Amino acid sequence: MQKNLSESDVAERVESLLARMSLAEKIGQLNQVGGADFAPGPKAEDQIRAGGAGSVLWLNDTKRFNELQKIAVEESPSGIPLLFALDVIHGYRTIFPAPLAMAASWDPTVPEQAQTVAAREARAAGIHWTFAPMIDIARDARWGRIVEGAGEDPFLGAAMAAAQVRGFQGDDLADPERVLACAKHFAGYGASDGGRDYDPVYLSETQLRNIYLPPFAAAVKAGAATFMSAYMDLNDVPASGNRFLLRRILREEWGFDGFVVSDAFAVGNMVIQGHARDGRDAALRGIKAGVNMDMSSYTYANHVAELVAEGALTIAEIEELVRPILALKVKLGLFERPYVDETLLAQVVARPDHRDAARWAAQRSMVLLKNEGGLLPLKKDIKKIAVIGPLADSMSATEGSWMVFGHQPAAVTVLAGIRAKLPGAEVTYAPGPEIRRDIPSWFESFMAGETRKPPQTPEEAAAAFQLAVESARAADQVIMVLGETDLMSGEAASRASLDLPGRQEELLQAVAALGKPVVLVLLNGRPLSINWAAEHIPAILEAWQPGSEGGHAVADILFGDVNPGGKLPVTFPRKGSHAPLYYARNLTHSPEGSPMYNPRYWDGLPTPLYPFGFGLSYTTFAFSNLQLSAAQVKVGETLTVSVDVTNTGAVAGDEVAQLYIHQRWGSDTRPMRELKGFARITLQPGATQTVTFPLGPDELRYWSTNAGGWIQEPATFDIWVGGDSQATLHTEFEVVA
Ligand code: NOJ
Repeated sequence: MQKNLSESDVAERVESLLARMSLAEKIGQLNQVGGADFAPGPKAEDQIRAGGAGSVLWLNDTKRFNELQKIAVEESPSGIPLLFALDVIHGYRTIFPAPLAMAASWDPTVPEQAQTVAAREARAAGIHWTFAPMIDIARDARWGRIVEGAGEDPFLGAAMAAAQVRGFQGDDLADPERVLACAKHFAGYGASDGGRDYDPVYLSETQLRNIYLPPFAAAVKAGAATFMSAYMDLNDVPASGNRFLLRRILREEWGFDGFVVSDAFAVGNMVIQGHARDGRDAALRGIKAGVNMDMSSYTYANHVAELVAEGALTIAEIEELVRPILALKVKLGLFERPYVDETLLAQVVARPDHRDAARWAAQRSMVLLKNEGGLLPLKKDIKKIAVIGPLADSMSATEGSWMVFGHQPAAVTVLAGIRAKLPGAEVTYAPGPEIRRDIPSWFESFMAGETRKPPQTPEEAAAAFQLAVESARAADQVIMVLGETDLMSGEAASRASLDLPGRQEELLQAVAALGKPVVLVLLNGRPLSINWAAEHIPAILEAWQPGSEGGHAVADILFGDVNPGGKLPVTFPRKGSHAPLYYARNLTHSPEGSPMYNPRYWDGLPTPLYPFGFGLSYTTFAFSNLQLSAAQVKVGETLTVSVDVTNTGAVAGDEVAQLYIHQRWGSDTRPMRELKGFARITLQPGATQTVTFPLGPDELRYWSTNAGGWIQEPATFDIWVGGDSQATLHTEFEVVA
């Protein structure tokens, strides 16, 4: 393995490559070729042979990688190796919990380990570059892609973004077990109007800088090699033609020296979007904005040479965009080791530590939402258990989103996990009526899984309903596994309602009416408005899309081998129409709870069903002794906050200490609470640990509309520390000039 080359060695090699490349080859490096049937454009081989391709995506075939690489290296004019790219979002073969779930661990080592494993497996398959992490802040639970990110909060999101970059890339890009990361989708995609995927986004600079950009800034700081420009219009300018984002912020302010790839077809799409006049104009806009690589729209391939010939673009402008692409190929060691050993993948994916890591990640990601009367954990001597629900034995729902391109779902389902945990018990299974999207997903055509069956008839659904109720009637304990299928969240998977789809709630009510003890396990990729369940079902476990080992992890928690300690990275609204709902809102002139001009809506409480940061444990915790290193600090100084966390229950468990601040006045109004510190700790019964958090300029500054820049101001600040965003343990301090 070649060790970190010096930047000047890399630059020298890049210049010598550029010196021997034709203009056509330089433009070729900016072209990313689709390797799948649905991708339009000329045959991949022909483009590669002509030196017209820098990268290939949507291909997941080790042998084919080597074949195409051979063409690039041996037959193309300058022999520049290809970068193979794929969406490895939460695992390649060993599937980890979806990113939203991993954020619920509130433990950055979870996504870091997960992406380390994902990188090792993907690289063994021949993939050099993943289109992850997805680090869009999402405050609207209707938006399907909320599952791919870390939820609503910039502080938590930044921590998860950096952790994933470290996991994918390690500290040396030449490490043959790592891949290039791609921070996406730059920027603001999560704020689409109405939560409708792809719709325009309008964000003030203040919202962008304070809320949507921090995870991206953290990704740059962590060394993210590449960025992906988003699809949608940001303030009426497509993100893939957006100079403010791609030039001013990313490169000038943050000093990003990697390269930017557009989202799929996004350069060409600027014509459809009503921004560019035609393909030629779109290419010009993409290049001028600083999009280095055109993902599969062939707009650069078709128009850049002509733009250079006409003098609309210079060769220097093209070379500027090619340089970081070549530099990363050099850093990866692709010129020395362009091929992948075709026997490697089988060995790597068989590593038992990968499965162990996935199970651990799933255990840490789950959130206990309710546990009335200590129903959980269940005793292991139960004789007859009914496992019920359309997702209870669904491998694809267990693995979750982004399992495309030939991946065969192979998850331990909740049913299988329970059976493995209790080999002596009688465990019956009834799916109940199936659930389906009203409008099918385009992505279904790529899935190897269970979604392609013809729809159930109403009679079949009624029979399945009855069967499920009967199986519950015959059991001592019922475990309902409800939620959303994998394709109900993710790309092009927004919805207007957050209710349990189909007849799931009706089935839950029918089963609950039998008077048996019922535990609800949720498999889903977004907050769900489970109001009825929250009121009537004694125990609820949010398991998200838990990945390959998900069923084992659920059983570990249900039967008490693991004490859950995850916390919600998103607010759970009571209704879809309450979205976007998030904790870090401004106070307003009529703070919630004050009698004047309230309520916010007159048709029901707009407060969260479950607040951000919320999650229970099989034990209880108390926070006390909130101390500050100083009651007053000067602007620019750092103070330390400390708090004692005590396990006041009878079993060991994890608590996430969360620190929230509020700046009481200033140039701009600040949110009523903002997360500025968190730590997940494990405590034995009776044990106390002191947790400390720094609060300095990084935590106290903000982008101000009135000041037109970053500021830190003298003001009084509130501090709360506790186990969720409604923590009550409070103190305050002063920042002075
Ligand atoms: C479109 C998606 O928006 C993006 O997240 C993904 O990486 C690309 N397609 C490539 O598959």
